[in-house]
Amino acid sequence: MLLLLLVLLAVLFPGGDNQEASQGPTSYRVMQISSFANSTWTQNRGSGWLDDLQIHGWNSDTGTAIFLKPWSKGNLSDAEVTELEEIFRVYFFGFTKEVQERISDLQLEYPFEIQGVAGCELHSGGTTESFLKGAIEGLEFLSINYTCWPSPGGGSRAEKVCELVAKYKGIFDTIENLLYETCPRYLLSVLEAGKVDLQRQVKPKVWLSSGPSPRPGHLLLVCHVSGFYPKHVWVMWMRGEQVQLGTQQGDFLPNVDGTWYLRATLDVAAKEAGGLACRVKHSSLGGQDLVLYWGSSISVGLIILAVIVPCLVFLMGLALWFWRRWSYQDIE
Ligand SMILES: *[C@@H]1O[C@H](CO)[C@@H](O)[C@H](O)[C@H]1NC(C)=O
Ligand SMILES: *[C@@H]1O[C@H](CO)[C@@H](O)[C@H](O)[C@H]1NC(C)=O
Ligand SMILES: *[C@@H]1O[C@H](CO)[C@@H](O)[C@H](O)[C@H]1NC(C)=O
Repeated sequence: MLLLLLVLLAVLFPGGDNQEASQGPTSYRVMQISSFANSTWTQNRGSGWLDDLQIHGWNSDTGTAIFLKPWSKGNLSDAEVTELEEIFRVYFFGFTKEVQERISDLQLEYPFEIQGVAGCELHSGGTTESFLKGAIEGLEFLSINYTCWPSPGGGSRAEKVCELVAKYKGIFDTIENLLYETCPRYLLSVLEAGKVDLQRQVKPKVWLSSGPSPRPGHLLLVCHVSGFYPKHVWVMWMRGEQVQLGTQQGDFLPNVDGTWYLRATLDVAAKEAGGLACRVKHSSLGGQDLVLYWGSSISVGLIILAVIVPCLVFLMGLALWFWRRWSYQDIE
């Protein structure tokens, strides 16, 4: 019976990027990463995500869920949580055992990794779509939506697994129930429970710097955008109203407080840097884009220098004058 659980493998897929940025997340997914190092060493990692925000972990020693947010349970009762933990405990145990027993049958060789993702997504109009996908070494090999579908690249291994799935009606029913009943119900309730956190708007801080010179006579302009939430953001180097298509975006990096960091760089000839600006659009800014001009921070430095240096010279002159006067008075 546990064979069927094999099917629950899921693969990590990037979060949907089609949702309205200010509406918060629209999907929930459970992720599994199982590493099989050799015939005696296996590790199962489990986690739960609302789009790109992790809200659940899995303690594989105790076989219990870790709730990373005070609202991570949604409106699930304690009894339901206990039941779900039991399902996952049995699943991870059975999954590991089934895979280990079928290494040659499934043409697997140590070491290898199996990934799985299963969950549901809310669409505009209130409909939900559920999904379950499995991958071996990052290559999708099957997906389930009422039926098991071997992926085009999954080969005979995928067909074999789907044939097995078809034989175990009971487990298939449990999976379907989790995907099409529990998941949408839980998703709605957790989005409601975490609303204040999930729909918060945090403004980005923006600053400019120069990176290592890409080639002689060129500058690498770096626009840092940090501390914003939600993740969706637009950052571009501009000349007037003209977007600089050479702008390169880095990866989104998470800050410890759950906000995001992103940098956008532009390689330009040093003499063309003047007049360039970094423009940032984000839902927290209420339509007021942030615009920082390259060179303006340098001219602020120059102004400070231009004011402070004469002041210092003047003060030193004054001190010298007083000191001389005192000296003359002493002599008199
Ligand atoms: C199995 O893999 C683990 C983790 O890499 C390693 O510590 C252990 O020594 C290996 N055991 C055998 C029998 O190869
Ligand atoms: C399920 O997935 C398959 C393959 O991706 C697709 O052809 C089929 O239309 C889907 N069926 C449903 C009911 O979503
Ligand atoms: C939990 O929330 C879902 C979605 O809002 C709802 O359909 C369900 O009835 C709620 N369950 C309980 C026990 O309140």
